[in-house]
Amino acid sequence: MKIFLDTANVADIKEGASWGIVDGVTTNPSLVAKEGRDFKEVIKEITEIVDGPVSAEVISLKAEEMIEEAREVAKMHPNVIVKIPMTPDGLKAVSAVSKEGIKTNVTLVFSSNQALLAAKAGATYVSPFLGRLDDIGYEGMNLVREIVDIFDIYGIEAEVIAASIRHPLHVTEAALAGAHVATIPFNVLTQMAKHPLTDIGIDKFLKDWEATFGK
Ligand code: E4P
Repeated sequence: MKIFLDTANVADIKEGASWGIVDGVTTNPSLVAKEGRDFKEVIKEITEIVDGPVSAEVISLKAEEMIEEAREVAKMHPNVIVKIPMTPDGLKAVSAVSKEGIKTNVTLVFSSNQALLAAKAGATYVSPFLGRLDDIGYEGMNLVREIVDIFDIYGIEAEVIAASIRHPLHVTEAALAGAHVATIPFNVLTQMAKHPLTDIGIDKFLKDWEATFGK
């Protein structure tokens, strides 16, 4: 499973990338707004740090405007994936720009039917938001599982990005569900790397070493 970082924070992306485990990045309008920086500037910086897909989202809601915006966004860098929301207008835009070779990530997917339509429209990635489903009392991971199964049955090439991940267990379960990608907030990535027994183990090794050989 590929690991994308779900953030527009350049410092966090630099740190994650330095671990050698970041395959790509996803951003969204909320994440970019949180940084309070120019959209194009942030995306450019991210593409300079990570040599992999970087999702940048359109703001327009009407198909024609989305198409224009998608073309602009795609021009930013060859690794930029245009994120388009899962609406009928979004589908029109995906189907138009995918024919031009523009790669897309259909976002805000909350049902298997939405995922199926997005893939049929030509999406490169579909992003089911599992955490937001959990928030309203549905098992978000079932959606990821269902979409992966459907795509497998029909040999659909679009990749499933497990999105809206809130904790390390989501990542493990997304991997077991066969998600192609998990897009992970930086704090969750940090939690994934840690285990109290690792810290206790290191402490004990060093104490034993020092007891025999000194500092
Ligand atoms: C995915 O691409 C989105 O940016 C993200 O996963 C949304 O997560 P949230 O529900 O935590 O905002």
